[in-house]
Amino acid sequence: MKYAIGVANGTDAIVIALRAAGVMPGDEVIFCTHTYVATAAAIHFAGAIPIAIDCARDHMMDVNQVEAKITSKTKAILPTQLNGRSCDMEALVKIAKKHNLVIVEDAAQALGATFKGAHVGSFGKAGTISFYPAKTLGCFGDGGAILTNDDEMYEQMMLLRDHGRNADGLVVTWGYNSRLDNLQAAILDFRLGQYNDIVKRRREIADLYHQKLSSLSELLLPISTQDEKDRRDIFQNYEIEADRRNELQAYLKENGIGTIVQWAGTLVHQFRDLKIEGNLPYSENMISRSLLLPIYPTLTNEDVEYVCDKIRTFYKR
Ligand SMILES: Cc1ncc(COP(=O)(O)O)c(C=O)c1O
Repeated sequence: MKYAIGVANGTDAIVIALRAAGVMPGDEVIFCTHTYVATAAAIHFAGAIPIAIDCARDHMMDVNQVEAKITSKTKAILPTQLNGRSCDMEALVKIAKKHNLVIVEDAAQALGATFKGAHVGSFGKAGTISFYPAKTLGCFGDGGAILTNDDEMYEQMMLLRDHGRNADGLVVTWGYNSRLDNLQAAILDFRLGQYNDIVKRRREIADLYHQKLSSLSELLLPISTQDEKDRRDIFQNYEIEADRRNELQAYLKENGIGTIVQWAGTLVHQFRDLKIEGNLPYSENMISRSLLLPIYPTLTNEDVEYVCDKIRTFYKR
């Protein structure tokens, strides 16, 4: 990318990118609700209205449903590059061009993932990254970045992240205090050198899970590295769908295996107090079956085999 701008966190990154991309109060922004609430919160704090959309079998925004949600108020599409993989960006770019919409990618979880050889974050006006410690490239606190190839976006976002101050220190617009802290930047600079190895190991672990679990009819696994075709997944998460998910999770816990249900099992449109409308059948069924299996670079092959053995034993009982 031409520019990567450090900011205070991945949520600010989205707010700043949306504002710089011209999203105004009252505009509608389409997003998939299988995401962290930060995606919708950023739309809200940019003054716009979050419009909910379902996910597809790969847990990414269902691109076939986007056009039905477009109205005269729609300004942008904000796909989340969830779990370390990319949405069908070819389809989204086509829709955005046809309807004159802006794309901003929430790539908080997907630094280094690609679609047809191009990196996530490079498809629209801007892409945003989170460096929260749980992310594939984490710092020791909060941090984020905004990627863009657009000179005007860059100028605007540099102002917005620092109280609207220009290079001479003069304030030319209302902005935020959202600078990336120097200490976190130094940690990230060091860890960036290890990043290819981190992603390589995550992909190996995903391969091993696939090898050991793909024959179980009770599970729906992420698309394997062999079947990726257009994508390169960095496996921020290994999210499966599982029959009897709650019982499986309890059984794994009894056996010393920690797992996570994303978003505490509640999609953004299901938080009633946020008043986001949505009747999203695939996502709602999926989140009742979703489970994140352990995946991190220091996990050994023996650990993965142990997890898989326990899952197999659970379904045999
Ligand atoms: C999909 C998604 N979007 C946005 C964010 C927000 O990033 P941050 O926590 O750095 O503000 C996160 C992570 O926390 C995320 O997972």
